[in-house]
Amino acid sequence: VKIVIKISGKNIDPENDHISAPLARLWREGKQLVIVHGGGPQITSLMNRVGKEARFEEGLRVTDREDMDLTEMVLSGYLNKTMVGLLAREGVLACGISGRDGGLIGAEKMLMEKEGETIDLGRVGSISRVDTALLQGLWDKGFLPVVSPVSADSEGRSLNVNADSVAAGIARAVAAETLVLFTDVPGVLSDPLNPESMIHTLSAGDIPGLLKGGVAGGGMIPKLKMAKEAVENGVREVIIAGGEALGALEGYARGGELPGTRVTA
Ligand SMILES: Nc1ncnc2c1ncn2[C@@H]1O[C@H](COP(=O)(O)OP(=O)(O)OP(=O)(O)O)[C@@H](O)[C@H]1O
Ligand SMILES: [Mg+2]
Repeated sequence: VKIVIKISGKNIDPENDHISAPLARLWREGKQLVIVHGGGPQITSLMNRVGKEARFEEGLRVTDREDMDLTEMVLSGYLNKTMVGLLAREGVLACGISGRDGGLIGAEKMLMEKEGETIDLGRVGSISRVDTALLQGLWDKGFLPVVSPVSADSEGRSLNVNADSVAAGIARAVAAETLVLFTDVPGVLSDPLNPESMIHTLSAGDIPGLLKGGVAGGGMIPKLKMAKEAVENGVREVIIAGGEALGALEGYARGGELPGTRVTA
């Protein structure tokens, strides 16, 4: 069984780690896992420390050349190795890579169309191809791949690709049964201010309406777009869940429920 799991930067706290133990248990059960991580708050915090403000368009971080360097330091350096270290403490041999390594993710610079205007987001990319050879090689040797979403353009330079897109792109490419996007809210909320308003199930066809109607904003926009793309391209289901639900992963892999919003074709 192949499962791609995206961990939000908001779920990663080395001082108070609740995520690596359940991931390690799932891995030991023999599931083929890929872990992809984001790093929103940690990137913003480093940018603030050098006197810069974070800016977003439709949930995507505007990334100039200098921001790209900082983003790569945080994602492919600090957070990627922190995840590898936390998993090592649980006895898992994880291997931290980024979309730039082994030709894993090829991306191209993205221009956003918004209200008839073209917005240049800087060094932000969308995925053009995924090569799963490195992931397969790591699995074959018994290593758990942990992926930072920083990817390469056709000249090998770094592009910032949203971690939800990278997780969905990998899920499609390895033909994963399930993609789980863990975040800091329990699922997709019909009222973003009310954590009790979670939508339990969605089909791909419901998603354009949710996006147009403005129910989903900010970082939920790329998640819903990518969930739709994934289930329309062979991934059986995508679950958007809160970090607290990580403890239920093992039960889920055995056929149980995972609390969160379940998206199917
Ligand atoms: N309808 C909605 N339901 C749930 N969350 C929503 C909704 N609309 C907007 N959001 C926002 O989306 C956020 C999650 O996306 P965000 O990009 O901030 O985090 P992430 O993707 O989990 O982490 P990272 O960016 O580190 O990978 C929530 O914290 C919430 O504020
Ligand atoms: Mg996000």
